[in-house]
Amino acid sequence: MEHQIEDRSGLGVGVVPSLIPSVSLGPTGLFDAPSSLNERLAVLHRTIRALSGLEGLGRVAVTTYDAGTDELRTFIDSSDRPTELAHYQARLSATTMLIEAARARSWRILALHPPSEDNRKRHSRSLYDAGYRSSLAVPFFDYSGLLGFVFFNSTADGFFDGGVPQRLWPYVQLIALMITNELTAARIARAGAKTIQGFSHYKDTETATHQERMAHYSRLIALENATRWQLTDEYIEHLFWFAPLHDIGKVGVPDSILLKPGKLTDDELLAMKKHVAIGIEIINTMKREFHLDGLPYISILYNAVACHHESVDGSGYPNGLAGDQIPLEGRIFAVADVFDALTGERPYKKRWSNEEALDYLIDLSGKRYDPLCVSALVDNVPAIDAIQRRFARELAV
Ligand SMILES: [Fe+2]
Ligand SMILES: [Fe+2]
Repeated sequence: MEHQIEDRSGLGVGVVPSLIPSVSLGPTGLFDAPSSLNERLAVLHRTIRALSGLEGLGRVAVTTYDAGTDELRTFIDSSDRPTELAHYQARLSATTMLIEAARARSWRILALHPPSEDNRKRHSRSLYDAGYRSSLAVPFFDYSGLLGFVFFNSTADGFFDGGVPQRLWPYVQLIALMITNELTAARIARAGAKTIQGFSHYKDTETATHQERMAHYSRLIALENATRWQLTDEYIEHLFWFAPLHDIGKVGVPDSILLKPGKLTDDELLAMKKHVAIGIEIINTMKREFHLDGLPYISILYNAVACHHESVDGSGYPNGLAGDQIPLEGRIFAVADVFDALTGERPYKKRWSNEEALDYLIDLSGKRYDPLCVSALVDNVPAIDAIQRRFARELAV
């Protein structure tokens, strides 16, 4: 499939491979798996080099912006040489040039200099070490505000001088469109689930902050193992977005069970365990009604709900999957979820200290829980403290 796009570069209208649709009809007549944003960015990168006479454009990358934490996070990247710029985050407020660009809603060109004492920022240093000498940063927005930045890099000095930013402008719009399409779908999924939760007593037993902390712990575990598991930033970001929805099925569990202060009877436990099946039904309905099937990584949302109670020794539920049969995100969510459940207060239990909760996880490491997920928490107590401090006020609820 090909699309005509308007090329305001002055080089005429170009024909580029399909970039926006995330599904295509495969040779078997079945729908191919949705292509990831990383794959689509790589196609766009090749297209820009070939059609716009910008052969020296070595890198196109996107960082997303989280207004809640003021964090810019690496998201997708197409580079002609390795950089160390994956799994990286920085505060926007610490980067004057990018704040200016966001305020002016305009691009900024930057020459990359050898790292000096006063320029030890990992971002600039990594790009310089990889051989890049010039950089162009362009902010992009949606109705709610700043969504992130598109970065272009070249090994040539002064590559972005002259009319190059104007020639790249249509491509920035295309990248922004690609990303907002995907973010909007993910937001719909999250907003739908939060609305459902808001109408149930489920909100009384597990606060919104449990879900947020659990998402942060999941991200911490994924980042810690990113190299070993070869995880992309795109995967990790989706993991973070969808983690809070893991217990959506609890909206279908009776209040008498959810709010019971004491131990559950066998029958009650059985009813409680049904929250996974109910959650799967809700997610399948949402996928169907909101047309989310074409969303790459939608399987993470499904697995968050379906697999967060599976155990690596096969003793979990609902399917008794073992080891690698459990999707990676299921193993990550299981550890993040139980850690926050133990260290938070619930109607049926007091709060455990971090040390007690980590000891519990260590005891069950390799039995119920994935050892690499457990060590990611055990080895990062200061990061856990930082997450808990960020949500300290809500912890007192
Ligand atoms: Fe659960
Ligand atoms: Fe939970």
